[in-house]
Amino acid sequence: MGAVIIGCGKALPDREVANDDLQALVDTNDEWISSRTGIFTRHIAVAESGLTLAAAAAAAALGLDQRDTLKPAAQGWSAQPIDPSSIDLVLFATVTPDVVVPSCAALVKRMLGLDRAVAMDINAACTGFIYGLTVAESMLAASQSAPGASSRTRCRRALVIGCDRLSRVTDWNDRNTCVLFGDGAGAAVVEWSDEKPGIRASYLRNDDDEKNALTCANFIEAPQPFSPVGVDPAACEDASLSGVDALLGIDEAVAAGGMRQVIRMDGRSIFKFASNAMTHAVEEVLERSGLTLDDIDCVIPHQANERIIKFAAKKLGLDLDAFQLSIANTGNTSSASVPMALADAYCTGRVKEGDNVVLVAFGGGLTSGAVLFQV
Ligand code: UT7
Repeated sequence: MGAVIIGCGKALPDREVANDDLQALVDTNDEWISSRTGIFTRHIAVAESGLTLAAAAAAAALGLDQRDTLKPAAQGWSAQPIDPSSIDLVLFATVTPDVVVPSCAALVKRMLGLDRAVAMDINAACTGFIYGLTVAESMLAASQSAPGASSRTRCRRALVIGCDRLSRVTDWNDRNTCVLFGDGAGAAVVEWSDEKPGIRASYLRNDDDEKNALTCANFIEAPQPFSPVGVDPAACEDASLSGVDALLGIDEAVAAGGMRQVIRMDGRSIFKFASNAMTHAVEEVLERSGLTLDDIDCVIPHQANERIIKFAAKKLGLDLDAFQLSIANTGNTSSASVPMALADAYCTGRVKEGDNVVLVAFGGGLTSGAVLFQV
């Protein structure tokens, strides 16, 4: 018994931006970007919100007829059409929520009529979908054996979404980062099964990013009428975030004329962290499931840089063919990266009934983790 994936889907914005297009913004070129990252194009949300992308990906995962929601275009696989009112839980992983109240999960619930679901958002950066899947699996498992469990109180089906619009927090003048990112959404439906094993092991981790290698201080502040000594209608000076800036080490960048709200990254140190974190997370789920690399049919990694995936493959001693590569036309889409690659693997028939699959990711936080499941 276990939590089994019964549907998955993805949605990308219409506007595709090629490497050559970025030469109009920064000093870069197709050769540098494609050879250093494996990225050729990415999709940027010009007309779409994160919510419309997420709802389209989720509808595809549920196997819903999308004639009414043709935009944004979505692709999906599902074992059977899934009744929206049978979803008990919606988890929405994102670092770029369109809104904070209500949660994005609550709004997808409204958009798709997931009437009985409870809903919440999760931020674990690019590992968000893996965290979400693990939380969903834990809630499904716990509710089966909870004291007094009944068919009314058991949580049987969860919708886990990973969606990001990194273009909102990208510094389009910084060639070190702007060539890497894209927008998109992916989703999966997991169901508790009394027969199949489904998710066999998961592993989550959070290392302190003490050197601030990957940060984004995306606060929007309402001016407030309080001074240190009392109420003052003219006061809107707010020093409350200066401590946060110091914590994230962004004072200097802002003083040098940069923006406060964008992603800042030390690419080389994240590269190093990522390659080690990926191999470690894969080894952990193998150990926890009692399986070996020989039992694994497919690895679906976070699509941040093809070179990181190659490095991890080499370190693990696995052929690159065992890895799902979806980065070429998406770039790094953070929380959406793993579920979109998962949808690619199902939609192309790359993974089949009985296969053992590992999902693995790393990201800001510094988060990392993996899930090993049987299709
Ligand atoms: O989701 C998780 C978050 N992020 C990641 O996983 C990213 C991890 N890091 C990486 O993928 C790689 O470190 C990058 C793709 C970001 C950079 O690749 P790299 O091979 O580590 O390049 P580098 O940072 O060492 O830079 C090499 C050179 C530098 O020039 P100099 O100092 O050697 O003259 C850069 O200024 O490449 C230059 N450079 C560029 N040149 C053309 C940096 N960005 C660009 C660019 N176009 N876009």
